[in-house]
Amino acid sequence: MTNPNDKPDSARINLAVFASGSGSNAEAIIHYSWRTTSAFRVALMVSNNSRCGAMERAMMFDIPTVHLSSTTHPNADEYANALASALQEHQIEMIALAGFMKKLPQEIVQIFSPKGRSRIFNIHPSLLPNFGGHAMYGMNVHKAVIAARESTSGCTVHEVDGEYDTGTIIAQKSVAVLMADTPESLAARVLAFEHELYPDVLQQKALEIQNNIL
Ligand code: GAR
Repeated sequence: MTNPNDKPDSARINLAVFASGSGSNAEAIIHYSWRTTSAFRVALMVSNNSRCGAMERAMMFDIPTVHLSSTTHPNADEYANALASALQEHQIEMIALAGFMKKLPQEIVQIFSPKGRSRIFNIHPSLLPNFGGHAMYGMNVHKAVIAARESTSGCTVHEVDGEYDTGTIIAQKSVAVLMADTPESLAARVLAFEHELYPDVLQQKALEIQNNIL
């Protein structure tokens, strides 16, 4: 399936999506990019897991993919260089982490902060700064929210500064935690909100880049 959008690709911001898992956020971003009004196109999918759902989805939509990991590049500097080269080759201007379970090299954060503010974004399945940080990802987050008997959870899109979940918060959506919720049922409800929130934020950021604000 190819991009049915008739807007010339040159008029859009080139976005790379980084993902390690099922890729449902990646797919929501791809679908959004097909709108005639989309200010971005998904020009590359990057993963540290060549067999993940996100890579399969990208291939299904004819989006170029690159697999880079500590297996392909055991040396950290070589990994960072290979990543920078792939991003340059595809003329990437903005990055969306969508369930990407690997810390980004500081060099990449520097390259994508040309005016001092990051053009790399991440979605996290909680209301940061709550339930963020090292080892707080995916289902771990929802288990912790339920164990803490929170009545509200949600999702957060934030700028990436190279640490875990600490960059400036851009947007959040709240989701009620129900008495009967399991980590799985809460995850599914939060994920539906992620799919709405993330493409909207990326659209806003792509427009800011186009307008020289970011
Ligand atoms: C999403 O819930 C995302 O917020 C989370 O991983 C899931 C990926 O799902 N990310 C983190 O926990 C990052 N700390 P997906 O592969 O279906 O998009």
